[in-house]
This record gives sequence, C-alpha cells and structure tokens, in this order.
Amino acid sequence: MGTPHGPHRVALWAGAIALGAAAALTATSPALAAPADVAGGSLDWGFKASFRAYVSTGNGTPSIALSDGATRNTDGTFDFPARSGTYDAAAGTASVQYGGTVKFSYPAHMFEITLADPKIVVDGDGTGSILADVDLVANGGSTQQHLDGAEIATLATAAPTVENGNVTFTGLAATLTATGASAFAGFFTAGTALDPVTASASASTSPTEPTEPTEPTEPTDPGTGSSAQKIKAAVSGGALTLTSTGGDVALSAATPGQNATGNLNAVTVSDLRGTNAGWDLVGEVTDFTGTGGANIPATNLGWTPNAAVKASALKAANGVKNAVVPGSPVAPGAGLGASRTLCKAQPGSSLGSSTCGAALDLGIPESSAAGEYSAVLTLTLA
Ligand code: HEM
Repeated sequence: MGTPHGPHRVALWAGAIALGAAAALTATSPALAAPADVAGGSLDWGFKASFRAYVSTGNGTPSIALSDGATRNTDGTFDFPARSGTYDAAAGTASVQYGGTVKFSYPAHMFEITLADPKIVVDGDGTGSILADVDLVANGGSTQQHLDGAEIATLATAAPTVENGNVTFTGLAATLTATGASAFAGFFTAGTALDPVTASASASTSPTEPTEPTEPTEPTDPGTGSSAQKIKAAVSGGALTLTSTGGDVALSAATPGQNATGNLNAVTVSDLRGTNAGWDLVGEVTDFTGTGGANIPATNLGWTPNAAVKASALKAANGVKNAVVPGSPVAPGAGLGASRTLCKAQPGSSLGSSTCGAALDLGIPESSAAGEYSAVLTLTLA
C-alpha cells in the first residue's frame, strides 16, 4: 500500500442532476419481431467496488477520471451510454457497444489502468461476455498490457425485462477471464468476481422512446413546459477529504425562458494532512441531455458559492490560521460548462475543516423542448 500522506489527495463528488419532465412520453411500442438496432440505453457497471476503493485511497489526481461520455453514478459505479448494436427482446439476446473511458491512476503504486468502450454480448442460453479495451501502463512503462475489444469477463445472464420494446438486463454476475486478469499484473486472477452488470438498450424503430428509462419523472403539469430538477449527491473516491451531506436537491419548477434555482448540497473539506499546503475545490457539470436528443448546455448552470470555516469546540494553537474563501459567482450562460472554483484555502491557512455550498441557477433557454433532462456535476478537490 502506498503512503496515504501524499500532498495530492483528490476526491471526486459526482451528482446526477435530473430535470423532471412536463411532457408525457408518448412512446408507441411496436411488437419487435426481428432484432432491433440500438439507438439508446446505457451500461451501469462499477468494474469492481474494492478496486475503486483501493485506487481512490491513492494519490491520483484524480484517481478515477471519466471521459468520452462515461459518467459516475451516485453510488460510485459508472454509466456508459449505448453507441450501437442490436438486440432481440423476444429471444433475450443482445450485442451492444457502449462508449466511454474510465482511467484509474495510482502514481504511488506506479500504475495507470484505462478501461474503455465496453461491449455486452448476451446469448439466449444464460451466458454472455463483456468485451473492452483495457490498457495497463506500470512501473514507468516497463510493464504494459494492451487489450483491444477483448473478452475481459464472462456473464451469467437472465431474461431481460422488456418495456416499450426496450430491454434491460439487471444484476448480471460478472467474472474476470484470464485475458482480463492479464491487465492487472497478477493482482487479480481469472475467476475473480466483478461488480454485477446492468445493461439496457432501446431501439431506433421508435424515435420518441425515452432514452433514459431509469429516472422516474416528477409529476408536473403536462403540456405547460414546467419542470422540476433534482440533484443527487454521493461521495465517491477519496472520501476522507471531501464529504457531502448527500440527498436530493430539487430545483424550482421552471418553463423555457425561466430559471430553475436551488442549493447545492453542502460539502465539507477536511484538510487533516497537517502540511498547510492549501487546496482548491472546483466544479464542472456536463450538458443536460433530455429525451429525443434535447439538450441544455452545461454553461447555462450558474452558481453563487459560499464558504465557512467549520466551528470546533477545540482551541487551535496560537498563530494557526484557518481561512476559506468562496469562488466567484458565475451567471447562467457563462457557468459550469468550464471548471469553476467552489471554494479554496490558501497555503498557510488551510488546516482544519470547512463547509462549502452554492446557490444554483439553471437558465433554461426559450428554445428548450419540454422533457426530462439530466447531467452530472463533479466536484474535484486537489
Ligand atoms: C502494476 C502495478 C499495480 C497494479 C496493477 C496493482 C493492482 C492492484 C489490484 C487490482 C489490487 C486489488 C484491489 C482490490 O482489492 O480489488 C491491489 C491491491 C493492493 N496493492 Fe496494488 N497494484 C500495483 C502496484 C502496487 C504496488 C507497487 C504496491 C505497493 C507499494 C501495491 C500495494 C497493494 C496493496 C497493499 C494492496 C491491497 C490493498 C487493500 O487490500 O486494501 N500495489 N493492487
């Protein structure tokens, strides 16, 4: 195990933001006799919870980085959007290519492992596979393994649930193959149980179908375009230094042209390193994506940060300074599409714990379609 005292502890806070829908979803569900082409859906998989925990206690900056469309779920698992493939709801078979990249970095243990573009193949006979690109670079490059679309895990499969012609395979048990194990330098062996897999796919034959079947919508006035927003918060990775009060945050209802407002769950930053090195907590949100390809750009989410030193009953030594400053407010339209400071403590005055929060302000463009939108807000502490 590497040292837990490195100066670059990083924690990620990932929250899903869901915008409740006004529009009733009017999917028709044609009987899908033949295999359907995949137009939507997602793969919900955490690879292996213990490995995420191991890497997250390390010194990567960040320890787990997501790109190419992969996002972090509130429980710390990953979400990979469907890109292509086919499935047969009646036969319970599927071959779906999902997209996105997750990079695990642990500099103190001298490795970086990248897992990209997982593909799920489900046969109708109770078996299946996960294929993916996996790259290991370790020991300064002297240890390397590169897998390209390789079968890294086998799946025990069951019949999918079918709704509106969409299929969802839930909680499939996954087992590492010898090929998959080869990318972990002997630290995992063939037969290791991985996290269960939940994979969904929806068809291009029904263009008005919801692409995100997992978020129930808030009951709102149908047809008026009003909406309500929910932010879920969970602490994942390196949680020793960044914790959130968690729970959902509902933004106010709004129609296109209005603003939906609410408050970020307060987060607590504890700088217990004893080095007084200072820290910076920044946030960035993804675009809000809605049904049928609708989109509210990330930059329309503004915030007004606040920050305070956490009171303690204990008396600090004379001369110890503890100061936290909130980031500058950013307005909707020039907001969190780019990384923005939520709060920071300067070197020399960063010891102890501070609480940071923000008033959120989502400007909804007049041109927005009514519907359900969701995005992921990530806070990064370094
Ligand atoms: C090629 C480089 C490395 C790779 C790919 C690697 C990978 C892994 C994996 C997959 C695990 C199992 C995590 C789990 O429980 O799910 C692990 C655990 C562990 N590794 Fe590494 N590791 C590497 C280098 C190192 C080095 C250099 C050290 C020591 C400085 C180290 C120390 C440990 C320790 C102590 C554990 C057990 C952690 C625990 O149970 O909490 N590793 N490693």
